[in-house]
Formats: sequence, C-alpha cells, structure tokens
Amino acid sequence: MSSGTIESVLHEDRLFPPSAAFVKQANISGMAAYQALCDEAGRDFEGFWARLAREELLWQKPFTKTLDETNPPFFKWFHDGELNASYNCLDRHLKTQPDKVAIIFEADDGKQTTITYKALYHEVCKFANALKSRGIAKGDRVIVYMPMSIEAVVAMQACARIGATHSVVFGGFSAKSLQERIIDAGAVAVITADGQYRGGKEIALKPVIDESFTLGGCEGIKSVFVYKRTGTNIPMTAGRDIWWQDAIKGQPDTCDPVWVNAEHPLFILYTSGSTGKPKGVQHSTGGYLLWCMLTMRWTFDYKPQDVFWCTADVGWVTGHSYVCYGPLAVGATEVVFEGVPTYPDAGRFWKLIQDHKVTTFYTAPTAIRSLIKAGGDLPKKYDLSSLRILGTVGEPINPEAWMWYHETVGGGRCPIVDTWWQTETGGHMITPLPGATATKPGSATLPLPGVIADIVDETGASVGKGKGGILVIKRPWPAMIRTIWGDPERFKKTYYPEDFQGKYYLAGDGATTDMDGYFRIMGRIDDVLNVSGHRLGTMEIESALVANSALVAEAAVVGRPDDLTGEAVCAFVVLKGERPATAEAAKKIADELRNWVGKEIGAIAKPRDIRFGDNLPKTRSGKIMRRLLRSIAKGEEITQDISTLENPAILEQLKHSL
Ligand code: WTA
Repeated sequence: MSSGTIESVLHEDRLFPPSAAFVKQANISGMAAYQALCDEAGRDFEGFWARLAREELLWQKPFTKTLDETNPPFFKWFHDGELNASYNCLDRHLKTQPDKVAIIFEADDGKQTTITYKALYHEVCKFANALKSRGIAKGDRVIVYMPMSIEAVVAMQACARIGATHSVVFGGFSAKSLQERIIDAGAVAVITADGQYRGGKEIALKPVIDESFTLGGCEGIKSVFVYKRTGTNIPMTAGRDIWWQDAIKGQPDTCDPVWVNAEHPLFILYTSGSTGKPKGVQHSTGGYLLWCMLTMRWTFDYKPQDVFWCTADVGWVTGHSYVCYGPLAVGATEVVFEGVPTYPDAGRFWKLIQDHKVTTFYTAPTAIRSLIKAGGDLPKKYDLSSLRILGTVGEPINPEAWMWYHETVGGGRCPIVDTWWQTETGGHMITPLPGATATKPGSATLPLPGVIADIVDETGASVGKGKGGILVIKRPWPAMIRTIWGDPERFKKTYYPEDFQGKYYLAGDGATTDMDGYFRIMGRIDDVLNVSGHRLGTMEIESALVANSALVAEAAVVGRPDDLTGEAVCAFVVLKGERPATAEAAKKIADELRNWVGKEIGAIAKPRDIRFGDNLPKTRSGKIMRRLLRSIAKGEEITQDISTLENPAILEQLKHSL
C-alpha cells in the first residue's frame, strides 16, 4: 500500500452514524446493544458462545463442552456435539418456509432461474445420493471446480450432507494448481462442469481437470461428476467420468444427513501464504456454521424479507460463508450470478440490484473501483432504492471509493460494512454493525462481540490506541482455522508463532487504531500480495517463474500499488540466456512468461510488469533485497541504506531495464 493511501486514510475523520430509523429496526440496535454483547462475552466467554451456538444451530446431539483449550493452538469448540451443516441450511426450513425462494440465479446471458428451499433440498439430496452411489463417504475429500451456479451450491451442500469434506478450487485456477490441491487433499472425486460463461465468453472447466490428471499423482480420483452447462463436446473417460444429469437420474430425493462431530472438517480451502506452497485451511462444521449465521444477523442485519447478494465466487472463502452457508442457514433469498460486472456493460451489477430488488449487496473494493472507472454515473440510471446495506471485503477500501459507494450506490442512506476477515477466520472479525457503529471511510471499525483483537509490537506488547503494529486475535473464536491440512506444524508456526509465546493468533496484517479504537488495516506484513482482493504469495509466483527452467535462472516478485487492483504483481527476472536487447524482444519473453504463470497458477497471478536484469540486488550473504525491488517497482527514488548490497550497480540496470 502506498504511503499516500496511508496518509489519506489517517486524516479521515468523517463520521457516518446510522439513521435513527435504521437503528430502530436493527438486530443489534445501537452501541449500547453492541456493548452489552461485548460485556456478556467478557463476563463469561464460554457461556456467551454456548448460548449462541444453542440458539442458532440445530444439534442432533447437544454439546456439553464449549471450548477445549488443552492442546493450544488446536482449539476445539462444541466438540462433543453432533450436527450436520446441510441439515442446518435446508431441512430446518422445510416446515417453516418450503416455498420461499432460496436462490435467484442469473446466468451470464441474463437468463434467470429460481429455486425454492424445498426444491433445493431435493436437489441436494439427489446429488448426495449420487455421490454415495459412487462410494463417496464421510471424511472423503471432494474437489469442486464449478462455475457460479445453483449446482455449485448443491455440490457443496451435498458433500456436507454426507460428511464429505469439500475443497473448492476457483474456476480460474490452472491445471497445475488443481493437481497440487488434488494431491495435497488426497481427494477421491471431482465435481465440475463442461465449462462456464463469463462476459459472453465460454471457458472450459472439465478439460482443465483432464489436463491436471495428466500431470500425475491424481490416481486417487475415482469419479468425476460433470455438470452439463455449455454443451460443448468434451472427452469423458468411461468408468470414471459421469454427467451430473445422469448421476442424479433415478436417485431418491431425500437423503438422511450424516451426523458429524462439531469439529469434523466441513471444508479445506487453499490459500496463499508467504512460502511457495498454498495452505489447505481446514474449517470445522459447528463453529464455522455458527459464525456464518451470526454474522448474517449481526453484520448484515439479516431480515426474512431481504434479498441478499454476495458477488464473491464460491472458489473463495467469501463465497463459502456468504453464498453457500450463511444465507441458506438463516433462510435468506440470495442472488447467485454467473457473469462479470462489466458485461454486457458496466451497469450489470446495478441492473441486477434493480431487477432482483437486492437489499444487501456485498462486493470487493476492486470491483467498486473498476466500476467507478468504467461508468461512475451508471448507478444513477437504475432504481437502487431496494438497497439497505452495502458491504465490502478483501482489501482496504480507499475513502474516495467508499464515498462513491455510499453516495452513488447507497443514495447516502445505506450503512457500509467494511468487513475485515480472512480465509482462516471463517467469517467477519472486525466490522461495523450497520445499526450500531458510526462508520468512518476506510476503517473496518470495531471487532465483533467476543472477538478479542489487538495491535501489538514484535514482542507481543499492546501498542495502545492511536498506534500502528501487528494485528492479533488474543482469544480463540468458534470459526477459526483448525489446522493446515496435513501440516499441523506449519499451522502452529504460521499462526501462533513463538514470538508471542504461541498465545496470539497472528493475522499477518498490519493495522492501526485511532483514538476511538477504530481499526484500519494497512496491508500484509508478510510476502503476500493482495491483487483484486485475492491473496497471492510472492514466493508462489517466484517458484512458478523459475519452474520455467528453460528460460528463467532467477526471479523475485514484489507488489506495487495499483489504483484498480490494489496491488499489481511485478517480477524481476534473470534469464538463462542474454538479457533481451530490444523492447520488442523483451515484450515477447515477458508475454511468454506471463502465459507460463497463468498456466502454473492461474490468470490472476500473471505479473503485470516483468523486468529483466543480469542479476538481482543481493546482500553479501546472497539474500535478495526485496525492499529495493519494491522501490524500483514503484518508480521511487531509492533512499534506503544500500551499504550491505553486494552489487549496487544492478539497481541502475533494473531501473532502466526493459
Ligand atoms: C485483506 C478474504 C482491509 C487482509 C475474506 C486479509 C482486508 C486478507 C479486508 C484476507 C478489509 C480482507 N480491509 N483488508 N475489509 N478484508 N482484507 O483470505 O490483508 O482472501 O489478511 O479472505 O485480505 O484475504 P482472504
């Protein structure tokens, strides 16, 4: 993040309290109500969560123990209780609201489909039976590689119903990324589609699965379920591949849920860390689902008449908590959208809000910024009066974009909830409550009740109000990451480091508070970039580049601030051969490397800038000095101390490199 942005947010002191009318109807009504919940958690931490878990979740076997802290940081919640996530999302509504619309699906081409709770329940049961008929059972891992669709939700819910652990892989990830995840998760099945439509273009999915298998190590996959979406001819391997539509034929439309322990892994979701290998973040069933429900009520002030729309893809955690689980568990009507915000034009989101009378709209700052750029006046062409709450997630929102969102989209009347959280936290952690918190543009404001967030220095000491430092969470919370799949040591080292005596959860973000105790997130403190609200490890991209052993000798990746995407990926590359002599030659190799990274990881990781040098700036001990590369990437003068640099001349070369 640029120092300019930090400056501008620090001087931000506009305050936007919710209107009296909003406060009056809110689930958490006013700051006193928020404080009362915080006090309740303060007085009796376990009692607080136990009460909420009993109120929100349907337990097949009630829990008697709330929090088990005997083996930190492997905390357990409600761990002698049994439940089923899909039962909690679907069966519970069968008597009360079977005919309520659960999902309004809008396809890329504008075609609309709705499905009621009852119909969704039957679809999930049929598909769950199809999974079972292929021998998939409790504890098995299933990869989901699907377009945004009703079926993506059905696939996830069906896994949950039979106690299988899903691992959704974003449809933009490459065959290589898929293969890594299939192997790491030890998956036995894949659920995919022939392809998908985005922005009028057809994008293949099943062929990417096939390609991932050719890379080796995927022999554990016994079944591939393929939803027919585009109808394009694709190869099917007999005995292994089966069309979704055939798999559900003749399956009973009820399926007993498999009761699982509250700690049973509902899903694994891979996310980038500061090392090369993505981490399989493992979530629980009970604590996770509780969080989805609570935050629907608290942060989104969920009301039965709401039409909820979270634009995130199910491939990200936001799509898990606020597309697949949260909205359904509370019984909401939600919008699921296949396409992109700019097709057929940059008014698409606003048209969707108008057409479906969306009340609660949740998206990423990067989408907001690109829509401002593509047509800042477009929202005015649509009737957005149904909106009552706006939300953002994924990266800090700059106050300019916040103000536009507030005025042009929200008509000045909708509270904005700037929700800070992570794949690892399962759901919102620091966020305004729309009927309580007075918001400040660019601030995620205050922690939720029961979330003990603080900012500390390197020794773990609180820095106090008004100062910056490292964001930590000091007490466990029900939806927290349970471990890194297959690598408990890495979990411990990454999130509960010895620096803080293993006591605090380290979020990996830097933050400050102001004198009101409001948090402002300043960006990552590790080697993780945030591009368009998506986490990318610089090491991951570096390993992808050097994996091109024919071309690349060495590579270093840093981020530079970008107006649209938050951060942009910049790669410094030392080639095996000569440095390109002309701009044209440089462009050719750069394009080749970009495509290479696209293949290794996915299009989102393609470096925006690639610079070639004879070497990289290194210390005498051979360590790459990334902070110098950051300055070069930003086009800044280098003012840092370079006395430890082995090869100072390289800086000039890289600055002027092609
Ligand atoms: C960043 C997304 C500022 C942060 C749910 C975090 C944010 C990372 C915000 C997690 C926000 C997320 N303000 N920064 N409101 N929300 N972040 O795992 O750096 O994809 O650590 O989860 O995004 O990204 P992830």
